[in-house]
Amino acid sequence: MSYDLAIIGGTGLYQFPGLENIERTAVDTPFGPTSAPVVSGTFAGRRIAFLARHGEGHSVPPHRVNYRANVWALHHVGARRVIGVNAVGGIRDDMGPRVVAVPDQVIDYTHGRYTSFCDVDGAEVKHIDFSEPYTASLRADVLAATARAGVPVVDGGCYGATQGPRLETRAEIARMRRDGCDLVGMTGMPEAALARELELDYACIALIANWAAGCGDEAEISLPEIFENLRVATAQVPKIVAAMLG
Ligand code: HPA
Repeated sequence: MSYDLAIIGGTGLYQFPGLENIERTAVDTPFGPTSAPVVSGTFAGRRIAFLARHGEGHSVPPHRVNYRANVWALHHVGARRVIGVNAVGGIRDDMGPRVVAVPDQVIDYTHGRYTSFCDVDGAEVKHIDFSEPYTASLRADVLAATARAGVPVVDGGCYGATQGPRLETRAEIARMRRDGCDLVGMTGMPEAALARELELDYACIALIANWAAGCGDEAEISLPEIFENLRVATAQVPKIVAAMLG
């Protein structure tokens, strides 16, 4: 079975709005259970697959997501182009709450996660080229779709992947800014690298939920505001996907 696109939904995106003729598949993987079943269906007249990264009831925190199982499962069911939707904090001045961004670089600060399919005894050792962590053609398709859909977007930026589940200190964000990070999130890695190992096309749609620690005017980051900002930004995703598939 093949798909025109697969979506991995992050915080705030647990089901794909408008998906029809839904079929749910629990995929057995060599790496254990996925966060949720793969939900297949039609959207804008095309077949897409959807997987909720944190589980459909948001029960899996970022550092415990079974990234290998999720990515392997999507590949196994026949997906070849994958968009990861990720809630993030904004660091760069033009990356404020509710902004949608399509990053083009990554710095990985996570630890203790399974970062490769080669972690299994006897597996072929692969050193993937990851100079460009996102697939250029898929990024270009996402960006062209945002233009057609009239969704404002920031093209490019460096995604700093932190371990979570806690938010960062101001000093950590100041360091990340010095490192060149424009966005901070907890789930961008190792997902992107695992997708590359399986030769999937992969791009990220980053939804900015809040100013990262010390970047906005507020002394503290409020969770209700995060969720409201995310709700607004998440509503843009089906518009972008419809324009991509249309
Ligand atoms: N930091 C890390 N991950 C996030 C943030 C943040 O400020 N906001 C949403 N996801």
